[in-house]
Amino acid sequence: MSSIKVTCSLLFALGVAAIGSFQFGYNTGVINAPEQIIKEFINHTLQDRTGEPTSEVLLTSLWSLSVSIFSVGGMIGSFSVGLFVNRFGRRNSMLIVNSLALVGGAFLGFSKSAGSVEMLILGRLIIGLFCGLSTGLVPIYIGEVSPTHLRGAFGTLHQLGVVVGILVAQIFGLNYIMGTETLWPLLLGFTIIPTVLQSIALPLCPESPRFLLINKMEEEQARKILEKLWGTQDVGQDIEEMKSESAKMAQEKKPTVPDLFRTPNYRQPIIIAIMLQFSQQLSGINAVFYYSTGIFTDAGVKEPVYATVGAGAVNVVFTVVSLFLVERAGRRTLHLTGLGGMAVCTVLMVISMSLKSTHLWMSYICIVATFGYVALFEIGPGPIPWFIVAELFSQGPRPAAMAVAGCCNWTSNFLVGMLFPHAAKYLGSYVFIVFTFFLILFFLFTFFKVPETKGRTFENITQVFETKSQGAISPTLMAEKGPIVDMNSIDPAKESSTSAL
Ligand SMILES: *[C@@H]1O[C@H](CO)[C@@H](O)[C@H](O)[C@H]1NC(C)=O
Repeated sequence: MSSIKVTCSLLFALGVAAIGSFQFGYNTGVINAPEQIIKEFINHTLQDRTGEPTSEVLLTSLWSLSVSIFSVGGMIGSFSVGLFVNRFGRRNSMLIVNSLALVGGAFLGFSKSAGSVEMLILGRLIIGLFCGLSTGLVPIYIGEVSPTHLRGAFGTLHQLGVVVGILVAQIFGLNYIMGTETLWPLLLGFTIIPTVLQSIALPLCPESPRFLLINKMEEEQARKILEKLWGTQDVGQDIEEMKSESAKMAQEKKPTVPDLFRTPNYRQPIIIAIMLQFSQQLSGINAVFYYSTGIFTDAGVKEPVYATVGAGAVNVVFTVVSLFLVERAGRRTLHLTGLGGMAVCTVLMVISMSLKSTHLWMSYICIVATFGYVALFEIGPGPIPWFIVAELFSQGPRPAAMAVAGCCNWTSNFLVGMLFPHAAKYLGSYVFIVFTFFLILFFLFTFFKVPETKGRTFENITQVFETKSQGAISPTLMAEKGPIVDMNSIDPAKESSTSAL
């Protein structure tokens, strides 16, 4: 193990893969700053076509549809990952799905010159499809080319790629860069550039050795790739491990999605997994990442776009912070801290927004509360739900559980994106109270129902649920009773931790 080196070709492969994560972040954040400009485009396009003024309700609906149809694509995409990875391989799948990004990016980029709102909406759908696939493919590829002892650390590259993508989108959206009436099509179409870069670079990256060995039985090829990536001849042990994993997987029964709900031992964990995904999205985080410029404008912030960029920067910083925290503090503790803290922040946001007309300095409180909200998100509800899904299920049921979790995540993402602008219209500055309510609800759920999983083996975690159906033992108690094992023994869990957005 000690002879394994981090070679340039490994770093190259990781970097190229992480472009996919960047794309997801970029397209999540890009729609934020140019909100007003794109709304005007929709308004004028429809007005020209029908000759009548566009109604407020129709405009809001079309705008929030353009924003959130992205998540519908993501939902379908994340469910389709399985169709690609085992058939075409990990690297080639990434290459194939890039064609979606090209088409989607072109639709977005040319929607204005074509005077077509439909192209804008369709483009967002296709890009969402691509992002849903990407957020599945990238973590799988990164997990499979990384040496075992570095898998956790490299796995976080995906999350980092996502938050950097959001930040770049926010910066590009500034009105002296591309956030203008003439340049916004370039801003949305920019996603083509990383797509082209990745498509050129991917053929230079190796296919996943794990895929070659386990799915294709090409042991020699897999060995050669491992030797090159890890800069050592000493890969025999890893090859053996892959072989035994492949044998074990052939034995282990793979439950289907309905099985997860039918089998008593899976039912409780899958409910927890679903609730935690909901807690991530219904915390309202994407209301901020999609619409923060509008929120800051309403709060009376003079340069709302800078506050949005600030939120993106806080997001990046705290993603890095959480990488260290997640290995030290327990998952349950971090999730509770995040949810509780975010609830407090939403209350502060509501207070500051409703008092802004009488107290001008309240807009600063709003900015600080929003930054705190984003920071706390990245500490708990951002990364934890994915960690927990991966840890509550062993290798066999994990793919099905991940599919269910991914679907719930994107569905609730869609609902928030779609409903937030309408809710904001009716509730005005009180809109975040809705999220306060959800945050408290999920805080209570986590407190009473979610066991601590840090430093425990899968068997040990599964036991909790078997015992729980017999006696009423609180999850905390059970967590304390579980023997603490070496962190490395749950390492495989980290390989499948994916997007936190
Ligand atoms: C659409 O644009 C017109 C003309 O620029 C404007 O008067 C109207 O308020 C806009 N409609 C909405 C719903 O914003």
